Amino acid sequence: MTDLRSDTVTQPTPGMLKAMTEAELGDDVFGDDPTVHLLEKTVAEILGKEAAVFMPSGTMANQVAIRVQTQPGDEIFLEESAHIYLYEAGGPAALSGVMPRLIKGDKGIFTAKDIQALLRPVNDHFPRTRLVCIENTHNRGGGTIWPLENLRELRDFTKERKLGFHLDGARLWNAVAGSEQSEKDITHFFDTVSVCFSKGLGAPVGSALCGSADFIQQARRVRKLFGGGMRQSGILAAAALYSLNHHREKLCEDHRNAKRLAEGIAKLPAFQIDPSSILTNIVIFEYSGNSVESFLDRLNKKGVALVPFGGKNIRAVTHLGITRDDIETALQQIEAVQKNDR
Ligand SMILES: Cc1ncc(COP(=O)(O)O)c(C=O)c1O
Repeated sequence: MTDLRSDTVTQPTPGMLKAMTEAELGDDVFGDDPTVHLLEKTVAEILGKEAAVFMPSGTMANQVAIRVQTQPGDEIFLEESAHIYLYEAGGPAALSGVMPRLIKGDKGIFTAKDIQALLRPVNDHFPRTRLVCIENTHNRGGGTIWPLENLRELRDFTKERKLGFHLDGARLWNAVAGSEQSEKDITHFFDTVSVCFSKGLGAPVGSALCGSADFIQQARRVRKLFGGGMRQSGILAAAALYSLNHHREKLCEDHRNAKRLAEGIAKLPAFQIDPSSILTNIVIFEYSGNSVESFLDRLNKKGVALVPFGGKNIRAVTHLGITRDDIETALQQIEAVQKNDR
């Protein structure tokens, strides 16, 4: 099966499994796991933050960041297609009691002006605005990378208004691999940053939340509250460390594979896509046939798995387990199945 449903479907590599079995372990709830400590120190250094805490998932990392930086009844700004808003099971409302205020961006990207237009005056009638969250790369935008100028402008705006600024950096590594920017070029604008090891980097489990030492101390407590305190989690941290040290460079190949896939799809009459818009590992394209579901079912039977992505859209994501040959095979099957539609 050429599984292009998501970059979360990767299997651990032999080198990663070896690192996991050889990891030195302790009970991390007692603060005893040396491999978790090493991972947290390494991630904090890469992102230029004082401290980091290992998390079981990107969802928990984002939700802990929101809980620590808000009070019930507060308002947080999110782009309308943000993962935090769409795909985290209503976490901001359920876990922090906050009200999401949505901004309509362009492929997930918005400006300080967009928020300014929505900002409420300070008044006892209104919810208090506390936090702005952005996603980089932005999944539903098609893996879009935020221009640094937008981030600078939003950072200045949030500082001036005394708002927190959080980055959902589940695919921060792809933003770096797909641009001239370093991790720190991006992260220095933010108070708090979540990253995932279990997407393009190919670890089986794991995320990290980064920020000031004081913030991370509070985040550890909320992680425990949310049930995310883990014991011999060094076995997972070892996989995350391995992915950081060995798989970041492969992301450039994933991006080239995504571009090739988009270029191939663009030549087929059943689809609409502009390959020049593909900057990272996510390929979203429009299907002009009758039923996306039926097309995807038939493609699946030919050994290629993609996901429906709202309306007539389909998403493919390249990752560690996908080679250039897999892309060529997938293109042949996509072409064959869409031919039968005509
Ligand atoms: C942009 C983004 N943020 C957060 C997450 C949540 O990560 P997890 O699945 O580890 O909870 C995802 C997962 O796909 C994501 O795409």
